[in-house]
Amino acid sequence: MTAPIKRIALSTGGGDAPGLNAVIHAATLAARNRGWEVLGIRDGLNGLLLPDDYPDGGLIELTRDRVRGIIHHGGTIIGTTNRGNPTAYPVRQSDGSWVEVDRTDELLGRIEEQRIDALIMIGGDGSMAIGQHLYEAGLRLVGVPKTIDNDLEKTTSTFGFDSAVDFASECIDRLFATATSHGRIIVVEVMGRYAGWIALNAGMASGVHAILIPEIPFSLDPVAALIVEREQRGAKFSIVCVAEGAIPVGGEVSIVGKSPGQAERLGGIGAKVAAELERMTGREARTVVLGHLLRGGSPTSFDRLLGLRFGAAAVRALDEGHNGVMVALNPPTVDYVPLVEATHRQKTVPLDCDSLLTARDMGINFGDEMPSHSTIGR
Ligand code: F6P
Repeated sequence: MTAPIKRIALSTGGGDAPGLNAVIHAATLAARNRGWEVLGIRDGLNGLLLPDDYPDGGLIELTRDRVRGIIHHGGTIIGTTNRGNPTAYPVRQSDGSWVEVDRTDELLGRIEEQRIDALIMIGGDGSMAIGQHLYEAGLRLVGVPKTIDNDLEKTTSTFGFDSAVDFASECIDRLFATATSHGRIIVVEVMGRYAGWIALNAGMASGVHAILIPEIPFSLDPVAALIVEREQRGAKFSIVCVAEGAIPVGGEVSIVGKSPGQAERLGGIGAKVAAELERMTGREARTVVLGHLLRGGSPTSFDRLLGLRFGAAAVRALDEGHNGVMVALNPPTVDYVPLVEATHRQKTVPLDCDSLLTARDMGINFGDEMPSHSTIGR
């Protein structure tokens, strides 16, 4: 028999994603309606680890008033960080170097001190792994999967993804104007880390001619051949959607840099692809990097609803005595899955998935050999 809950805390970790505030809204109301107190931890877990850095001590009381009218807002009202892993916390030394320190015990002490009975941890793969660690260390915890990248296992979707795809598609729609008017190649680079979900979905939805994703190492020969062949057919423009994690055959992923305590920052592949295609085809090529624009703006209604469903389900899970689980979309329902299962590996685009087959059937080029039935391309 688990002890009754009186007070919970919510944290949002990793990159912001549209729909985070919807989770906070529903979780707060569902908890308050059970008579529980609700706290928001500022900036991931930093509000607990660095209380002196915040005028309010790093914790916000989440009242009905505080969460009113936030469902449609991007970002997170409690803040986030992607450099606050308590198991490997980056600490700057007096000589300017950085060391990583395990602050788990300190964190658990602060949670006890604040009389927090359970934590709802909202985040991506990194946060779910931290959640698993804290659960193993004795914390009562439920995870909520978030990421625009859609790369988390055990849930059909993460909120944030639909909004990112929707906005990327709108941007690409707009780029058709310049591409067609000037007869240019436009290479659009989108986020997604090591998964090609955003590039595949946005590229298909907006009708691009080639899509380069991390799951299919690419050569630009077939892409250039398609561009030239399109030109011969009178289509003097082409649009290529490239995922930031796309990798050339025999090459490396394109990394911009890495800060202490953070994962490496991907980027730059779009410019390389554009320069090479311009050289290979003789046609002017431009690059557009959508970057963090994909994380902002108002969530789509799909992401709002998924966020609300996840937030309320996380509270129900705690109320029903679940622990060490992640809420997960398993249409038509929301399930609870062991957190550990969600952290085993990243969910990447399966090479035989229906979307990829559809794209190939339409002649979209992936920088690999075209299947035999598709001789012309888009
Ligand atoms: O995981 C979400 C994401 O937006 C990735 O698509 C991207 O690689 C990364 O975060 C960028 O993070 P940062 O906020 O550190 O630039």
